[in-house]
Amino acid sequence: MKPIHGFLLLLITAYDLVESVEAQDQSGFISLACGLVPKDTTYTEKTTNITYKSDANYIDSGLVGRINDQYKAQLQQQTWTLRSFPEGERNCYNFNLTAKSKYLIRGTFIYGNYDSMNQLPIFDLHIGPNKWTSVKLDGVANGTMVREIIHVLTQDRLQVCLVKTGKTIPFISSLELRPLNNNTYVSESGSLIAVSRVFFSPTPSFIRYDEDIHDREWIRHLDNEKLSISTDLLVDTSNLYDVPQPVAKTACILANASQPLTLDWTLDNITALSYVYMHFAEIQNLKDGDIREFNITYNGGNNWYSYLRPRKLEITTVFSTRALISPDGNFSFSLTRTGNSTLPPLINGLEIYTFLDLIQLETDQDEVSSMLSIKTSYELTEKVRWQGDPCAPQFYRWEGLNCSYPDSEPPRIISLNLSGSNLSGTITPEISKLTQLIELDLSKNDLSGEIPSFFADMKLLTFIDLSNNDLSGKIPPFFADMKLLTLINLSGNPNLNSKIPYSLQQRINSKSLTLIVSETVTHKGESKKVPMVAIAAPVAGVFALLVLLAIFFVVRRKNTKRAKRPFNPSIMTKERRITYSEVLKMTNNFERVLGKGGFGTVYHGNLGDTQVAVKMLSHSSAQGYKEFKAEVELLLRVHHRNLVGLVGYCDDGDNLALIYEYMANGDLRENMSGKRGGHVLTWENRLQIAVEAAQGLEYLHNGCTPPMVHRDVKTSNILLNERSGAKLADFGLSRSFPIDGESHVSTVVAGTPGYLDPEYYRTNCLSEKSDVYSFGVVLLEIVTNQHVIDKTRERPHISEWVGFMLTKGDIKSIVDPKLMRDYDTNGAWKIVELALGCVNPSSNRRPTMAHVVMELNECIALENARRQGSEEMYSKGSVDFSRLSSASEFAPGAR
Ligand SMILES: *[C@@H]1O[C@H](CO)[C@@H](O)[C@H](O)[C@H]1NC(C)=O
Ligand SMILES: *[C@@H]1O[C@H](CO)[C@@H](O)[C@H](O)[C@H]1NC(C)=O
Ligand SMILES: *[C@@H]1O[C@H](CO)[C@@H](O)[C@H](O)[C@H]1NC(C)=O
Ligand SMILES: *[C@@H]1O[C@H](CO)[C@@H](O)[C@H](O)[C@H]1NC(C)=O
Ligand SMILES: *[C@@H]1O[C@H](CO)[C@@H](O)[C@H](O)[C@H]1NC(C)=O
Ligand SMILES: *[C@@H]1O[C@H](CO)[C@@H](O)[C@H](O)[C@H]1NC(C)=O
Ligand SMILES: *[C@@H]1O[C@H](CO)[C@@H](O)[C@H](O)[C@H]1NC(C)=O
Ligand SMILES: *[C@@H]1O[C@H](CO)[C@@H](O)[C@H](O)[C@H]1NC(C)=O
Ligand SMILES: *[C@@H]1O[C@H](CO)[C@@H](O)[C@H](O)[C@H]1NC(C)=O
Repeated sequence: MKPIHGFLLLLITAYDLVESVEAQDQSGFISLACGLVPKDTTYTEKTTNITYKSDANYIDSGLVGRINDQYKAQLQQQTWTLRSFPEGERNCYNFNLTAKSKYLIRGTFIYGNYDSMNQLPIFDLHIGPNKWTSVKLDGVANGTMVREIIHVLTQDRLQVCLVKTGKTIPFISSLELRPLNNNTYVSESGSLIAVSRVFFSPTPSFIRYDEDIHDREWIRHLDNEKLSISTDLLVDTSNLYDVPQPVAKTACILANASQPLTLDWTLDNITALSYVYMHFAEIQNLKDGDIREFNITYNGGNNWYSYLRPRKLEITTVFSTRALISPDGNFSFSLTRTGNSTLPPLINGLEIYTFLDLIQLETDQDEVSSMLSIKTSYELTEKVRWQGDPCAPQFYRWEGLNCSYPDSEPPRIISLNLSGSNLSGTITPEISKLTQLIELDLSKNDLSGEIPSFFADMKLLTFIDLSNNDLSGKIPPFFADMKLLTLINLSGNPNLNSKIPYSLQQRINSKSLTLIVSETVTHKGESKKVPMVAIAAPVAGVFALLVLLAIFFVVRRKNTKRAKRPFNPSIMTKERRITYSEVLKMTNNFERVLGKGGFGTVYHGNLGDTQVAVKMLSHSSAQGYKEFKAEVELLLRVHHRNLVGLVGYCDDGDNLALIYEYMANGDLRENMSGKRGGHVLTWENRLQIAVEAAQGLEYLHNGCTPPMVHRDVKTSNILLNERSGAKLADFGLSRSFPIDGESHVSTVVAGTPGYLDPEYYRTNCLSEKSDVYSFGVVLLEIVTNQHVIDKTRERPHISEWVGFMLTKGDIKSIVDPKLMRDYDTNGAWKIVELALGCVNPSSNRRPTMAHVVMELNECIALENARRQGSEEMYSKGSVDFSRLSSASEFAPGAR
């Protein structure tokens, strides 16, 4: 079938203006000429009479551009300008519409060498959080592409996004929305992507508005075997599909009337589900005794509709209420006359769609509204990652947000970090709409006014950081009633009255809450500024906790049989604490060992019906309790999908245990070495694991307050779940417990040989750049699958070896031979360069983890582009004459 983009080219001037149909208004149409400036401009395109306006009010990013003048003459005016997106991975248009309404959405892309690069871009188009299609331009008029989808809005808002998939820059020429009747084009759920929409007349070459009141594009389709017939009479097109008159008034029959009329096409995605709509009307004047009656079958005899007699001058639409599938993407429909029929079959119009499952749910509608308001009111337009849905898909989650993703329910925002975002004015009440919020960080801004009272209703908050702003007024007493609250940081607000209300003081005294009110100072020995905790109460707070621990640690060493260890509930919540007898039950008396280390043994366990890993700390371990505390504290405070989650902990007499989420596929080291069977991690797997581990680390560095340094990043601390999703593990313990087979380092400088930052080792000065170093080593392992230290190599350390090999050979000599060259060479170079940057001896010259994450995402995009290129997908359906068989049968409906 002809591709839909044909209608944009005005190659044929002689298309007849069919007798003037009463002009329909364009109410409900949204017709955007992208990149049109100034932003209030509107104009009417002469060939269609459609009024276009600028897209500027629907998007806050992108650059405007114009196609090369030489292409303009043959194109409709809305394609002369465009908007391109060199910045950011995902850029989105936002529409305020009505939930549950149905729209035809059309994106048009005409490259026209606007950037003088003469290189056709490739990128993706998303509808909300779901991928709609890839845009891969062909050479017509220097790149032309039209994509159409029929979509039911799930919210009062629609987002259409352009997403980078490689090096080329996404752009769009026009974006059009047309309301459709709710009861037409019904699929089981999800949306319909238009493949083809054809009519059978020699002229015109296409039909759209205003013959089609819904502005669908119909493309002329006739071949040598088919004849076109037509009528001058008006056809009743009042069934819900509103087939345009020029389509209804013409039909095709076969030149040889005794043969069945066949319609064949091939879908590029053979697994796609298909929806087909056929429109029929009798447009010949039948003589007495004449009957036109036919059966419709597809793919070798599957009945679709039997004994169809098109009604005289009235449209009947035949379609499936369920999707059709073909095992190889080929579809062949036959219209066969029945025994009593005296006339051959005919057809007036045909529409073909494929089904798009909308797997990703959009973030809770109110929370999206709230985030958009926050973005607008604080003018956060420079945040390039604040585009599209805030939480979904996870990969494009807005920076500074953390979300929960409950099964089959919309994602919810659970943490918001706007630290250092130049916010000014008062704290916006929009924040109170984020009702699931657990952590809120608005520190290091210029916020003024009082601490708002709406916090009192945000019962789930455990952590509020408002430090280093310009807040005034008093510390409100309601904090005392927020049961889950464990930490409030109000330091660095010089105009805030630091008097602590009595009820709050009580709460602080009960040690269930830490309140920080003084200035920040630099912590000795660490290069990062961390808030020095000034305690507003005699014995509470993190600082006190550390002091107490040190004391108890000493006590503990002297008297390990000491009775009860005091517990600071400020961070260690009771809910997650379990008894030793529960541990016994959970592990079925330590039945199954998952692993052993210097710290003790890890057992498999079941908590309800979730699997867990239970790490028991051995009694002999000297520093155990401090490290145990450190890890529990950290993990109860930070939550990130790429950090192994703590399910609970046991602190029962001398029995210390940490209960983690279970990671079914072991650690990355085992997977790389082949210890877990012969399965080789693909290049794609490795990149995905690398970026996920990097995200976990990036979160520790930038998403936590105070920032965390992992100190023991290595492949055996990157764990994989059953879907090979990667999470970083071992926070706090491993730095002072030797792991089997690896020697223990000094108690001051902690880490694993080979991964240990030489600068940290030398200066004893810890910073997050030490983790970057270790991560660089991990990247080199991922690429090469070599040992980190191998004395038999010319250069024992992996980073020196890679550097050495690259000076004399090419990339192939270092990449893991198990990959069998199935990787993107550019991507491999990029990742090795990145890794070598990370292991730079000087920490100042190493990139940040945020940069590492960005670079790794680009490697993934390269790899995706490579795989897509080799599969040659997404050209349009083509005409094809082939037969096939399929077993499925579907009940069609008719109108
Ligand atoms: C556009 O509108 C004008 C005025 O109503 C009419 O004369 C012309 O035929 C229309 N053109 C098209 C392409 O519909
Ligand atoms: C959509 O609604 C929001 C909030 O009501 C408003 O700020 C925004 O300007 C609207 N967008 C458009 C394109 O009308
Ligand atoms: C664009 O058109 C020019 C001139 O028609 C041609 O030389 C060039 O190769 C075309 N570029 C692409 C990418 O099709
Ligand atoms: C479609 O359904 C929505 C919600 O049920 C309703 O608001 C809208 O008016 C309907 N549109 C049509 C054309 O029936
Ligand atoms: C029409 O088709 C029939 C059956 O396939 C064939 O026998 C006949 O020769 C064809 N007629 C023409 C004119 O091609
Ligand atoms: C092909 O169709 C299937 C089924 O709808 C879908 O899951 C898959 O993502 C599609 N593939 C592409 C490349 O669009
Ligand atoms: C038309 O379909 C009916 C019912 O499926 C079947 O009995 C009949 O044989 C078919 N006729 C032709 C000519 O295929
Ligand atoms: C053909 O028409 C006759 C008379 O109307 C009817 O009895 C017969 O069932 C029809 N045959 C078919 C195959 O429809
Ligand atoms: C399906 O269509 C393709 C492309 O036209 C063709 O190469 C292939 O042979 C067809 N398959 C069958 C089973 O007919």
